[in-house]
Amino acid sequence: MDVKDILSSVGSPFSQGSGLVLERLHRDAQNDRKVFLRSAPAAFGAWIRGRSPIAAAIPYLKDAYLPVSPEMGRFLQITARLAGAKTIVEFGSSFGISAIYLASGLMPGGRFIGSEREPNKVIRARKNLAEAGLSEVAEIREGDAMETLSDIEGPIDILFLDGWKDLYLPLLQKLKPKLRPGSLVMADNVYTFKRDLAPFVMFMQDPQNGFASVTLPFSSGLEYAVAL
Ligand SMILES: C[S@@+](CC[C@H](N)C(=O)[O-])C[C@H]1O[C@@H](n2cnc3c(N)ncnc32)[C@H](O)[C@@H]1O
Repeated sequence: MDVKDILSSVGSPFSQGSGLVLERLHRDAQNDRKVFLRSAPAAFGAWIRGRSPIAAAIPYLKDAYLPVSPEMGRFLQITARLAGAKTIVEFGSSFGISAIYLASGLMPGGRFIGSEREPNKVIRARKNLAEAGLSEVAEIREGDAMETLSDIEGPIDILFLDGWKDLYLPLLQKLKPKLRPGSLVMADNVYTFKRDLAPFVMFMQDPQNGFASVTLPFSSGLEYAVAL
């Protein structure tokens, strides 16, 4: 198989149909700026009172994509194929952008299991995956990922963490027994939420916890770990 064949067999961003879906979704996601502006007074007010700005902004974020960058998306997709991934699990699927990248990197016969707690986002993510031609291999579980992902059958090849940051560590610990040795854990936003995610990063980078991990310098910071 030459490189061109590999890329076309990977599917979406490399094939025209889903590439167009991703292009549209990344374009729509630029409206997130307006959502951030609307949430700014609440977040700032919470910060001044010593409360969590993120928690205060959450009601406004129901309509926000908050997606991975196209660059990170491509990286996720290529990594999925490089890892020969047959089972990919995602915490926080939003409108399905990272889901499309990851699911299109699956090996033939593989499956993608995403999770999202906002019902309007679940509907849109499913629709977007269908438009990208991925609904046969990808599902989005609706509700709190701590529950909806708890009965996943292992072995998991890739776990991608991108939901609210306080759950990265508890969810990882819940799913750890299902990660096969050599599987990957990738977690977005370790720079964006440096303070909130410090305990998670410390856990991942302590080899006693069963991972070898490094932070990759994407602008948002991607923790990239292999299960030992
Ligand atoms: C940063 S966005 C995800 C973006 C998505 N990965 C992408 O690149 O397109 C985080 C999402 O996680 C969802 N989320 C947060 N906590 C969750 C939970 N406990 N269970 C399921 N989804 C959750 C939020 O509703 C939000 O849509």
